[in-house]
Amino acid sequence: MSGTPETSLPSTLHQALAALLGPSGLLTDTTDTAAFCTDWRALYHGRCAAVLRPASTEECAKAVALCHAHGVPMVPQGGNTSMVGGATPDDSGRAVVISTTRMKRVHSIDHADLTMTVDAGVTLKAAQDAAAAEGLFLPLSISSEGSADIGGVLATNAGGNNTVRYGNARELALGLEAVLPDGNVLNLMRRLRKDNTGYALRQLLIGAEGTLGIITRAVIQLQPAPRARETALCAVDSAAGALELFSAFRKQDPAAVVAFEFMSGTSMALVNRFIEGAGLPLSEPAPAYALVELSSPRAGDGLRSLMEDVLGEALESGLVSDAVLAESETQRNALWMLREEHAEAQKRAGASVKNDVSVPLAAIPTLITEATAACEALIPGIRVAPFGHIGDGNIHFNLVQPEQMDAAAFSARDHDIMDTVAEIVRRLGGSFSAEHGVGQLKTYMMPSWRGGAELESMRRIKNALDPQGLMNPGKIFPAA
Ligand code: FAD
Ligand code: MLT
Ligand code: ZN
Repeated sequence: MSGTPETSLPSTLHQALAALLGPSGLLTDTTDTAAFCTDWRALYHGRCAAVLRPASTEECAKAVALCHAHGVPMVPQGGNTSMVGGATPDDSGRAVVISTTRMKRVHSIDHADLTMTVDAGVTLKAAQDAAAAEGLFLPLSISSEGSADIGGVLATNAGGNNTVRYGNARELALGLEAVLPDGNVLNLMRRLRKDNTGYALRQLLIGAEGTLGIITRAVIQLQPAPRARETALCAVDSAAGALELFSAFRKQDPAAVVAFEFMSGTSMALVNRFIEGAGLPLSEPAPAYALVELSSPRAGDGLRSLMEDVLGEALESGLVSDAVLAESETQRNALWMLREEHAEAQKRAGASVKNDVSVPLAAIPTLITEATAACEALIPGIRVAPFGHIGDGNIHFNLVQPEQMDAAAFSARDHDIMDTVAEIVRRLGGSFSAEHGVGQLKTYMMPSWRGGAELESMRRIKNALDPQGLMNPGKIFPAA
């Protein structure tokens, strides 16, 4: 049985969109649109008047112009992996979701410039694979890369596992094309490494979470493929121990460290419990773990001896109590799986509250100690399961519901928990959202964190480009 549209588009708009996009580009049946109206975490259940799936920039621009002319709100969506409800429409049913999932062309790979030109709807994994097929490397890596799209990772300025060496998505984008809220196309595909001609508009679109326009194409910087790689999982006694180890590697060769990830004993235990095939390759569970990866474009670059020297010393001094080095690509994948399945394991463990925070590196141990005590005092039995990109100062200070607590009752405390952690983060000079963005989940935090001239400037920019407030309403900005 097929569902029915819960709200209809104005009929003139419906007809024009149907003529423009064809049957596979316009979905109005609720059985087809439902998946676009719920987020990965199932925190939000919105409704939409339709899902538009343009296949090109031109189609996207025309569709946006039509929606703009009819005053219809638009929600850009890529792989729909947002952790903050950024791509989910509200429940009014007025908005259309504009999905880039049919814009899937890898246009070109340039070996002289070390760049690739891709459509927004190419998944990050497909872009990585296309680069690898030409002996190159796209150095952005996140656990959701099989679903997340280039447009989505740029719109959220995604970080991930290689940020410590290569920076966030922002640092990797050399060019951008976007459809503005009125349907005009902003072509910034110049792909120049040097270009000081006025405002850096592409950087404005990156990280704007779809509130200023729809990214349709991008030029992404690549690297030569790594020819040497060493990966190790290390048992440490705490986040402070992990940081000391990070510093030991960086002192030897900062350029060699491409990833340095932290996992608490609690978060690793959830992976071992909930993910099939996961197993700890160490003699016994530890209070905490660090996953370190070194790489180089030069074969035989001495990475193995660098890894062995640093770990040898750390084992001798007791900084590391046990460690395992990957001896093959299969073993490397098995080590990375333990890290990459953290989000999925926590999802299976019940309701959770995510605090995607960053603080200066030296403040991480204090953050973990103080936030653990505060959360345990707030909700006895809460499972404190921090992990994340410790080399970037970015900890996912995630909390999982107590075993016996009702999931809804735990979720109802989300603001108490987020505020408790956020106040500690604020005192330590950090940010309440290091990489997931604000979305709709954290809009309420914006006035106290980014208030005054900062939020007012953001509002003015938003009003200048989108005076009707049609592009991704309800995201980033708290309701007036
Ligand atoms: P969506 O979820 O579809 O959208 C995200 C936001 O971008 C929304 O505001 C949406 O409106 C907007 N948007 C989407 N496409 C466009 C476009 N073409 N133009 C303009 N706006 C657009 N994030 C990290 O930074 N680091 C991580 O390590 C990380 N790990 C993750 C692991 C898992 C398992 C999951 C589920 C998520 C993770 N995320 C991480 C969060 C998420 O932000 C990223 O997966 C990714 O950046 C979102 O891409 P997407 O295509 O799914 O975007
Ligand atoms: C990750 O790094 O795996 C995700 O960003 C984290 C999360 O689940 O909070
Ligand atoms: Zn992350």
